[in-house]
Amino acid sequence: MITGGNISCITFSHHKGGTGKTTSCLNVAGFLALAGKRVLVVDADPQANATMGLGIYPDSRRRHMYDVFMSVFEGFPNVPITEVITKTEAGIDLAPSNLDLVGVEPSLYMIDDRAGILRDLLEPVRHAYDYILIDTPPSMGQFVINGLVAADHIVVTIDAGIFALRGIDGLETIFADIGEIVGHRVTADLAVLTRWEEAPPLMSEPSVRPGLAGLLSRLFKRGAPQIPAAEPLSQGGATEAERRARIEAEVKRRFGRVETVPFSREVYEAQQRGLPIAQYAPDSPAGLAYRRIAEGVLAW
Ligand SMILES: Nc1ncnc2c1ncn2[C@@H]1O[C@H](COP(=O)(O)OP(=O)(O)OP(=O)(O)O)[C@@H](O)[C@H]1O
Ligand SMILES: [Mg+2]
Repeated sequence: MITGGNISCITFSHHKGGTGKTTSCLNVAGFLALAGKRVLVVDADPQANATMGLGIYPDSRRRHMYDVFMSVFEGFPNVPITEVITKTEAGIDLAPSNLDLVGVEPSLYMIDDRAGILRDLLEPVRHAYDYILIDTPPSMGQFVINGLVAADHIVVTIDAGIFALRGIDGLETIFADIGEIVGHRVTADLAVLTRWEEAPPLMSEPSVRPGLAGLLSRLFKRGAPQIPAAEPLSQGGATEAERRARIEAEVKRRFGRVETVPFSREVYEAQQRGLPIAQYAPDSPAGLAYRRIAEGVLAW
C-alpha cells in the first residue's frame, strides 16, 4: 500500500523531446492522487500535453499559466495561480497551459531575477497540496530553469534513443548552470528510463527485419525484396539489450536512483482518455512501474 506524506515540489525535466516527461509527471501524479494525496500538476510547457493528458482542452479555459506568468509584468492583470487551477476527473488539480505560454519566455529575459519566478508564483499554493508536480518543455530555456529552481526534487526522464547517453551530458550542464543560480549543487533524485525493455519492433533486433521484407512484399504484391543482412543498429556491434544495460549502468552511476518503465500501449490509451494510467489501467506494465515509482516518491 502507498503511504507517506511530505510536501514537495517535483520537476520533470529533460531538454530532449519525447523522453517521457509528461507521461511520467501525469502517471506519478495519478498514483499519488490514488493514495489520497492532494496533488497539483503545473503545466509549464506551451505544448499543453499535461493539460490535455488530464482531459482538459486548453481552449476550454479562460486563464492559463500564461496569465500567471504575465502577472509579474506591469500593465498585465494580476492572476494568482489559484485563479487558473481547475479540478480534473482523475482527482488531480491542474494549472493548465496553452500555446500563449510561448510568448512569455522572451519577456522573462527582461527580469534580472527570472529563475525564481515560478517558485514565487507557486508560493500561495505550496501548503494547499501534498505534492506539486511540474511538467517542463523540451528545451534549455526559462521554463526548465524556473521548474528546476522551484523544485525540491528533480526527476529526469531518459528514453532508449541511440543518443541517450549524450543527453545525460547535456543534463549535467544544465544542472551545473542552475547550481550556480541557486548557490548549491543540483542533481536529479531519480532517473526514469522510459519505454524501456521493449523497443518498437523495427528498431530493435536486426533479426526482425525479415518481417519488414514480408510486409513490403505483401504491400507491393511482388516477391519478397532482397534485404541485405543488416548491421546492428546499436553501436559497436552490441545487441539492443547490451546497449540498454550499458545506459542503465551509466545512468545509475550518475544519478544514483534509476527506475525503468516498460513500453505499454495503455499509456497511449490513457492519454487519449485524458486519464493517468493509475485511473485507467493501474495493473498494466507501465501502471505497475509508475506505482513503484510513486511509492518511492512518497518515501522521499
Ligand atoms: N511507457 C510508455 N509506453 C508507451 N508509450 C509511452 C511510454 N512513455 C511514453 N510514451 C509515449 O511516448 C511519447 C512521448 O512521451 P511524452 O509526451 O511523455 O514525452 P515528453 O518528454 O513529455 O515529450 P516533450 O518533450 O514533447 O514534452 C508519447 O506519445 C507517450 O504516449
Ligand atoms: Mg511533454
